[in-house]
Amino acid sequence: MKKIGRNDPCWCGSGRKYKTCHQQTDEKIEYFRCKGVLVPDHDMIKSQRQIDGIRESGKVNVAVLDYVEEKIRPGISTEEIDRLVVEKTRELGGIAAPLGFEGYPKSVCTSVNDQVCHGIPSAHDILKEGDIVNVDVSTIYNGYFSDSSRMFCIGRVSPEKEQLVRVVKECVEIGIEQVKPWSCLGDMGDAVHQHALKNGYTVVKEIGGHGVGLEFHEDPFVSYVAQKGTEVMMAPGMVFTIEPMVNMGTDEIYVDEENNWTVYTADGKPSAQWEVTVAVTADGYEVLAW
Ligand code: MF3
Ligand code: CO
Repeated sequence: MKKIGRNDPCWCGSGRKYKTCHQQTDEKIEYFRCKGVLVPDHDMIKSQRQIDGIRESGKVNVAVLDYVEEKIRPGISTEEIDRLVVEKTRELGGIAAPLGFEGYPKSVCTSVNDQVCHGIPSAHDILKEGDIVNVDVSTIYNGYFSDSSRMFCIGRVSPEKEQLVRVVKECVEIGIEQVKPWSCLGDMGDAVHQHALKNGYTVVKEIGGHGVGLEFHEDPFVSYVAQKGTEVMMAPGMVFTIEPMVNMGTDEIYVDEENNWTVYTADGKPSAQWEVTVAVTADGYEVLAW
């Protein structure tokens, strides 16, 4: 790393002198690096201005999910959910991030029952009483990305499904509590994992969370089967998602061969996911979108 003088402008672009901006954080990171800890580099750390931008994007993302929550009901097609997302996002001055992302054909992911993630909205898929569905919304606003998702129970659902949905929400809440500087991401991931296991569920290994903010998917990869004391250390300014995919049965999954996107549980049992965008602050966390 290039040495920056105490009175030079900070690398983060704040315009402030290094000594009153990131110098202390950098020294602390350097201390951990010397101890052999896996530490984040500067491109995983956002400036205050960038976090402010992601927060505004998150507000749009949350408003879009609130809008979906108002409208979702038995009989609605997942295509209609896509339309709701497009309309609301546009009304609020944002852009839905999924459309065209690595060729993704729609503006939101709607994953029903045994669909683990990346369910593609379709006029043929009508939500019916008893379904559980994840609606995964991602917004670009003023150039900043945010990403969050919620589960919805359609009408009355079985107690087993209801419990899965509730426990996965708890998993995310428990994960959020572990977000603080100088701990590592594995502490967070393990807390999520243990809560799922304790309830008799499994956690998908292959797909996880990600850094987010200046792009849709950034480093680091965020695992929810990671062990305590492993993975990259968290530092103030990091922004990433917590989005565990938790299965009622096996953790084995497969990808739809026709669309190459939608992920299913191998045993056909239900899967649930909640997702937040979270920032690491000086002494803990800030949820930027849920
Ligand atoms: N929102 C999803 C996530 O949490 C992104 C899926 S990629 C897409 O990472 F193209 F399907 F949107
Ligand atoms: Co995500």
